[in-house]
Amino acid sequence: AYIDLDYTSALGFIHEKEMYQAQETVTFIHDRLHQIQGKMLGWVDLPAEYDRAEFRRIQEAAAKIQKQSDVLLVIGVGGSYLGARAAIEMLNHHFYNDLPPERRKTPQIYYVGHHFSPVYIAELAELLRDQDFSINVISKSGTTMEPAIAFRIFRNILEEKYGKAKANERIFVTTDRKQGVLKTLADQEGYETFVIPDNIGGRYSVLTPVGLLPIAVSGVDLEQMMAGAELARSELNTPLLNENTAYQYAVIRNLLYKKGKTIELFVHYEPCLHFLAEWWKQLFGESEGKQQQGIFPAAVEYSTDLHSLGQYVQEGRRELFETVIKVQRPALNVTIEKDHDNMDGLNFLSGKTLDYINKQALEGVRMAHTDGGVPNLLIDIPQINAFTFGYLVYFLKKACAMSGHLHGVNPFDQSGVEKYKTNMFALLEKPGYEQRMDELKQRYLG
Ligand code: PA5
Repeated sequence: AYIDLDYTSALGFIHEKEMYQAQETVTFIHDRLHQIQGKMLGWVDLPAEYDRAEFRRIQEAAAKIQKQSDVLLVIGVGGSYLGARAAIEMLNHHFYNDLPPERRKTPQIYYVGHHFSPVYIAELAELLRDQDFSINVISKSGTTMEPAIAFRIFRNILEEKYGKAKANERIFVTTDRKQGVLKTLADQEGYETFVIPDNIGGRYSVLTPVGLLPIAVSGVDLEQMMAGAELARSELNTPLLNENTAYQYAVIRNLLYKKGKTIELFVHYEPCLHFLAEWWKQLFGESEGKQQQGIFPAAVEYSTDLHSLGQYVQEGRRELFETVIKVQRPALNVTIEKDHDNMDGLNFLSGKTLDYINKQALEGVRMAHTDGGVPNLLIDIPQINAFTFGYLVYFLKKACAMSGHLHGVNPFDQSGVEKYKTNMFALLEKPGYEQRMDELKQRYLG
């Protein structure tokens, strides 16, 4: 397989034969994922079947944004935000927004609509008033409060700056095919619109226009990304556990969970993977945290977090296991030079590369944590590039769908996220929430 899963460091905690004992159940779930035209399974065959015309329109819109703007403002939250940011940060220069325009060549990218912070929003508004910018607002429902508020604020700034007609040329909407206020607004104002397929949920939507438009604006090769996803689709299109690494991952994490490993740490050694980890947390957390059960997905960045959380991982409560992303070949490398005086005592490293040192850190940590009672799974990726991103997100989605079903929950719903919203709307006196406000007054507000 293009991406390898090494579970040898988990074998002190589970037996390989336990994994293979799950084969029958895995086959049953695989057939359901592939044969039932389930409501939320549009992502399964997407890499083979995606709408080529829409794909070209995305690339054209991206080219237009690149031409007319110095900044793209991406407005969205959760599944309408994290996938795009994961790709943009993983696949571009670490200091993308700080590069001089002649080196970057594509617009700076800022994000908003993922919180209510007045300071962040006010400072961003101040920054953008003097910039040529376009907006891609992404919301399947069109009613999510964070992006809706941000869109109102930044749409007004665009309209003040360019006038309504010209501003409308700079607004790109990604939303539901038919319904929602955002769709109505887009139709009324004539914004260019992209469709989020009905049968793909937010956290499974990165390879739809949700992720693709902002990713394309940053200059990432979408064809390569979809080719990687397509390879994953075909390689992982088998129920057989000895061939399907995504299903191995799904089964092993469930076995570990049953043995008391209730917290999974997504571990990486590359800062550009920070938002991939954020995306992964949502994917697994929202898919599996149900019925008062589920592995808690957390993420750590090593070696940074070894200096903060490493102590806990090594010697704290033994509820953890780690899933480590290992990058075989980094795009760039740095060699440690010999120093004449060797005052820092580092000459034993001279001639060695940072990649070599990073990998020895990874191996040292893997051994220490496994010895300390923290099973380690290793997801081995050849390189960080668009192809790998496409493969990896498909791999993780397939693993998550299998894992959720193994766990006995529906990995495609998220009714729990509505609960706090009802309270928030009541507190904000949104029409229709009066009864909830009365209940809150009785129970909490006196
Ligand atoms: O995975 C999900 O469904 C959520 O994270 C949503 O993507 C998020 O709440 C944003 O929803 P919407 O796209 O409707 O604004």
